Amino acid sequence: MEILRTVEELRCWSRSRRRAVGGRAQRIGLVPTMGALHAGHLSLIRAARAASSDVAVSIFVNPTQFGPQEDFARYPRSFDADCALARAEGADSVFAPAVEEMYPPGAATFVEVEGLSDRLDGASRPGHFRGVATVVAKLFVAAEPDLAFFGQKDAAQVAVLKRMTADLRLATEIVVCRIVRDADGLALSSRNAYLSGEERRQALALSRAVRRVEEFVAAGERRSCALIAQARDIFAAEPQVRVDYVALVDWATLEPVETAVVGSLFAVAAWVGATRLIDNAVLG
Ligand code: PAF
Repeated sequence: MEILRTVEELRCWSRSRRRAVGGRAQRIGLVPTMGALHAGHLSLIRAARAASSDVAVSIFVNPTQFGPQEDFARYPRSFDADCALARAEGADSVFAPAVEEMYPPGAATFVEVEGLSDRLDGASRPGHFRGVATVVAKLFVAAEPDLAFFGQKDAAQVAVLKRMTADLRLATEIVVCRIVRDADGLALSSRNAYLSGEERRQALALSRAVRRVEEFVAAGERRSCALIAQARDIFAAEPQVRVDYVALVDWATLEPVETAVVGSLFAVAAWVGATRLIDNAVLG
């Protein structure tokens, strides 16, 4: 597995791998991450491995997607362990640039997906999706991947990135992989590492709320207000958890919907202590 540090190295790696080998066209798969890899990331690498001839994993804690009061400085960083995990899952390269490589001094170009970027997480994290869209656009331009793999847990991020690739007419297909959960239901997140034992217990309110809504949809309830009320009841029983949003939206536009249909996104975000967590379900 190669470790690549510069955009030029990533571009050369991708282009050299893309050349048809033995008459078979190569398909480059990219798994963008901020490191601190867990089983959710590993499922993305496995999906990439299955669908691509060559897999690059990027590890970059992207400063522009963190607000000034957020956890950029303390975000977990575990590069050597991450590389070992990526290698074990069959990644062909890890791209781990320095901040100045992705944002050269004086960099003044950003990607803004208007409208979508202000909804759900974007509403409480101003500038977050501008940072995400910018860094992912830079990764796509450098790696020229055929496929890029993202987790459904960051469902609003997926909506923003799909809009961005469509608007910029990028050739990369976005592949969304299902949420990976711990045995008790908690959606895996690198930020779970921040939780104390008691906070981890409280955090289960998020997955419980999502599951309750899925059960009510399965039982025939479709009204947004009724589904949101069910989720809010779960949070009310866990008063230490501060709800950020509980929403039923169209997954493509992130606009609220009155009635759940197949493919509607039910999403929650909440603060557990100092840690902001998210969870969701795509209703079927
Ligand atoms: O989902 C993440 O880990 C990040 O937002 C991403 C897509 C790697 C961009 O920094």
